[in-house]
Amino acid sequence: MIFADENIPLMEDSEFEDLRDFIYEYCGLFFEDDKRYILQKRLSRRIAVHQLQSFRDYLLYLQFDPNKEEELSELADLLTINETYFFREDYQLKAFIDEIVPEILVRKKDKVLRVWSAGCSTGEEPYTIAMLLHRALDNMGVGMDKWRIEILGSDISQRVLGVARRGVYGDTSFRAMNEDYMPYFEESGDGKKRAVEEIRQMVTFSNINLLDKTKMEFVKSMDVIFCRNVIIYFDNKAKRKVIESFYDKLSDKGYLLLGHSESLMNISAAFELKHLKNDMVYQRPSSKDVKAS
Ligand SMILES: C[S@@+](CC[C@H](N)C(=O)[O-])C[C@H]1O[C@@H](n2cnc3c(N)ncnc32)[C@H](O)[C@@H]1O
Repeated sequence: MIFADENIPLMEDSEFEDLRDFIYEYCGLFFEDDKRYILQKRLSRRIAVHQLQSFRDYLLYLQFDPNKEEELSELADLLTINETYFFREDYQLKAFIDEIVPEILVRKKDKVLRVWSAGCSTGEEPYTIAMLLHRALDNMGVGMDKWRIEILGSDISQRVLGVARRGVYGDTSFRAMNEDYMPYFEESGDGKKRAVEEIRQMVTFSNINLLDKTKMEFVKSMDVIFCRNVIIYFDNKAKRKVIESFYDKLSDKGYLLLGHSESLMNISAAFELKHLKNDMVYQRPSSKDVKAS
């Protein structure tokens, strides 16, 4: 084996091209030529773990090995950015809880509210949604028994989902959270805090690659989808694919909330841009309106 650096095997041109195409098709991330060294360095760890001889062998492992699903999750974990914290982008959360949720509570007769945090990383986003809903329903005098609240948190990486399911967090996760919400946590004994059971029970976690249509089939119809700071790393083609799936998964008049620097410009014209007091959000038009136009 030839080494490019101390412990990093050399990546041939054809290996780089084939691996980056494979990664792009798998999870939407595209490594430009100038990111080749990053890819080489990160994947070399997996080559060492499996004691493989080359990047070509690693690609074959990803494609054909009986354990390829586990390896794909490891790969996603190596390549993605998992930064997140409670109450991130609070003005948008304000729009959600003060404007979107009350509108849905009046409109929906089935008394089921489904919210999806797509690309939830270690779970701070879906637990934030759970705390907001728990408190808002309490304040409105709408008991949790009157409405069924279903929150789905999903991610491509199994590792982050493991952290999310445990629900134990250190200080950095709380950096934007108001003290008011601390009663939703208990000491976990290691200087960290764990979300209380009532909040943890409101969220179900699932391993979903947003580019995998077959996995999407299991997702129920959603009233609100949060997909923040996830597709920002994709090119337009991959973004379109994900947004089309979200459109299919949203209920009539359902809302799509993207990160603050993200928009559907050049991606989709199927949604309406709704100007709320606290934020601008996307809404799926009612199917009646779509048919009439
Ligand atoms: C920066 S975090 C965002 C977490 C949270 N939404 C927030 O805004 O704080 C991005 C997450 O998206 C996930 N992700 C990236 N590509 C994905 C894909 N194709 N399918 C599902 N999740 C993906 C990553 O694993 C990562 O945990």
